[in-house]
Amino acid sequence: MSRGFGKVILLGEHAVVHGHAALAGALDRGVTVTAREGDALRVRVPAWNLDVAATDEHPVATALCAIADALGARPALVLDGDAQIPAAAGLGSSAAMAVAITRALAGALAIECDDDRVCAIANGAERSFHANPSGVDVALAARGGIGLYRRGSGLAPIDAPPIPLAIALSGEPRSTAAMVARVTETAAKDPARARDLELMGALAETGAELVARGDHAALAPLLTGAHYRLAALGVSTPALDALVATALDAGALGAKLTGAGGGGAVIALAPGREDEILAAWRAHGVPCFAAYVGASSRRSA
Ligand code: MEV
Repeated sequence: MSRGFGKVILLGEHAVVHGHAALAGALDRGVTVTAREGDALRVRVPAWNLDVAATDEHPVATALCAIADALGARPALVLDGDAQIPAAAGLGSSAAMAVAITRALAGALAIECDDDRVCAIANGAERSFHANPSGVDVALAARGGIGLYRRGSGLAPIDAPPIPLAIALSGEPRSTAAMVARVTETAAKDPARARDLELMGALAETGAELVARGDHAALAPLLTGAHYRLAALGVSTPALDALVATALDAGALGAKLTGAGGGGAVIALAPGREDEILAAWRAHGVPCFAAYVGASSRRSA
């Protein structure tokens, strides 16, 4: 069984696409893939209603072929995926799947693949979903843990215990590609918004120091500040703003959208009070769960 972690971006989404830093951690859940013999190469993830053959016209088929071709073969294998994170919710589902598929196929083909190669191959697959991935999702999906990520230099791991979060799902349909394009256009037209991206990268660097010190109380308001800057960049929605407000009213020390936005998930940092935040969201009928960020194969949450 091969695994890819889901991820949460604590600070610096979008900024990271433009060369600034992002602070992100792996979730203690993700996607696992098992390979078995079949008639043709295909991937099935029942939790996402996904059953796609390599020959289909589908972005997942493009990703699957990109991975298989990078490994030099399209074997007749069925890749059965078990997903513990929702698809297209800003929690790194496509990267987790790409990493798990890369590892499962490499294993089946008896090809030695270290984390660097897994990341390079999975990032090629990620380009099927959005043209300009920073690589942060794949780095976390493959390596786990928590760290500061920059394009070019990659993931600098932070040795810190996993961070407990409450996570709500807005359920709104969203597209990372559309959100990345919107932010890129906005920042190109408006220098104040370009500065927001730079500032969010700086917040990620400060956040990394606070995470290393285990100072979650000081980290939390940075999250809320980042939410409003992301909103100014046009990637929040009334539903995401409402989820942030509900979490703060229920006692969270900080809350924000996470990932590309335009829908997807909100995270709230409320050390020791996660259940109260979840109860407040549930009172509004919002699907939500508690999770640890910073999971790795070495640490357990
Ligand atoms: C998506 O999880 C995060 C973005 O920063 C895109 C990327 O880094 O590729 C919006």
